[in-house]
Amino acid sequence: MKTFYIETFGCQMNAHDSEKVVGTLLRQGYTQAADEADATLILYNTCSIRDKAEQKVFHRLNEYKRMQGEGKKFAVLGCVAQQEGAKIFEKAPYVSLVAGSASYNHLPEMLARLEAGENRITGLDDRQTDQTFDTEFTARSNPHRGYITIIEGCDKFCAYCVVPYTRGKERSRSSASVLAEAHRIAQLGFTEIQLLGQNVNSYRDPSGRRSFAELLAAVGEVNGIKRVRFTTSHPRDFTRDIVAAIDAVPTLCDHVHLPVQSGSSNVLRAMQREYTREWYLERIAWTKAARRDISLTTDIIVGFPGETNGDFEETLCLLDEVGYDGVYGFKYSPRPNTPAMHMADSIAEEVKVERLATLNARQREIQRRNYARHLGQVVPVMVEHGPNHRGQMTGRSTQNKTVNFACETVPAVGSYLDVRITEIFPSSLLGVAVSAPLAPSPTLLAQQALNARI
Ligand code: SAH
Ligand code: SF4
Ligand code: F3S
Repeated sequence: MKTFYIETFGCQMNAHDSEKVVGTLLRQGYTQAADEADATLILYNTCSIRDKAEQKVFHRLNEYKRMQGEGKKFAVLGCVAQQEGAKIFEKAPYVSLVAGSASYNHLPEMLARLEAGENRITGLDDRQTDQTFDTEFTARSNPHRGYITIIEGCDKFCAYCVVPYTRGKERSRSSASVLAEAHRIAQLGFTEIQLLGQNVNSYRDPSGRRSFAELLAAVGEVNGIKRVRFTTSHPRDFTRDIVAAIDAVPTLCDHVHLPVQSGSSNVLRAMQREYTREWYLERIAWTKAARRDISLTTDIIVGFPGETNGDFEETLCLLDEVGYDGVYGFKYSPRPNTPAMHMADSIAEEVKVERLATLNARQREIQRRNYARHLGQVVPVMVEHGPNHRGQMTGRSTQNKTVNFACETVPAVGSYLDVRITEIFPSSLLGVAVSAPLAPSPTLLAQQALNARI
């Protein structure tokens, strides 16, 4: 009996890679074990974007060590696998397979070698391959939202980032294959599609047939699809036709995640982001000029080498100017092999901690103001889970905001309904369902009385 257990860290691309790896394993005759103790093959899909990722991985592998001798095999996948390569065998000799994401196409062969008893198998790419990991065998863990990777790798080489080294060179799937997958999952009952790429909008159709905006629109028109999201967009490749597509195609969600990293053009230059603050703000202006209320979110790195108080102030003032609905802030973390590794990590940890706290506090205030626009609005919500101990359900708006709501009858997860927003919190909205067939209940009536006052 071939059984496996997989543990996944990192971004949505990694999570979706794991869904495809699981699909491949099932196809190869493996069954998924609920617990690592029951598995003959343990796979560990790793991330190395920040902090001491390598140490964490080796620490975890050390825990695996005590399981050896039970006839188990171990595989390390993902970004740390690509980054550390065969060094993993030296530090953790009980590992038999080390493979980066650009080699997953060859997983069936690698698995066959593993089963034949080989114990030093590598799938390391080092920016060679032009192949993408296309498979019909994807074990999707969410039955309503389907992820589709449209572009892999990265050619941008920002000074701080490991991704160009861990995920290989930038390569896109043909739009025909993306659309075929979109149709296939729509027929299976998925209603939301999320297109993925480290820089999703750097997409270049190898057949030259569709631009990224055209592909977005085409996916949005697939029968049965109610919502289309895409992440992550890079400012360099953010074109006006993306905004036009969101305005034109109602199923495209009104949300753009556009990481800026810093509000200072000096820091942006040192980061090799290849745009200035002004250039970025022009893309924001296009997005704000849309007919739809497009929600904006971003990523920020604080404490990049050489970041002065003045530079950081510029970042804070950019937050005010854009008025984001969400900000993911990170302390700069030096990463192996990156150009910034050779710059002195000049900002003290206490300063990084303080800047991150200031950033988060400022953003909380901005969100409090921003979210107030939703009071009294009726927003369509896709139900994600619930009810909780207060009887509330949780769903997501098209702007990707968390909406908790009261509802007379418990709606099915994956269903859509309209919610009237009655209260706002720093990072969620609270309301009451208005489109379900509702028999008034005391809590519902109390909520409605609250609505009436707004
Ligand atoms: N391709 C996307 C981001 C991918 S990585 C883009 O270019 O915008 C996700 C986020 O991790 C980045 O936006 C950045 O904010 C953060 N990040 C990447 N490398 C980092 C590092 N060395 N230290 C701290 N944060 C980092
Ligand atoms: Fe990393 Fe920059 Fe590529 Fe984003 S664009 S993945 S931050 S190198
Ligand atoms: Fe991490 Fe690799 Fe994604 S480093 S964030 S898993 S691309």
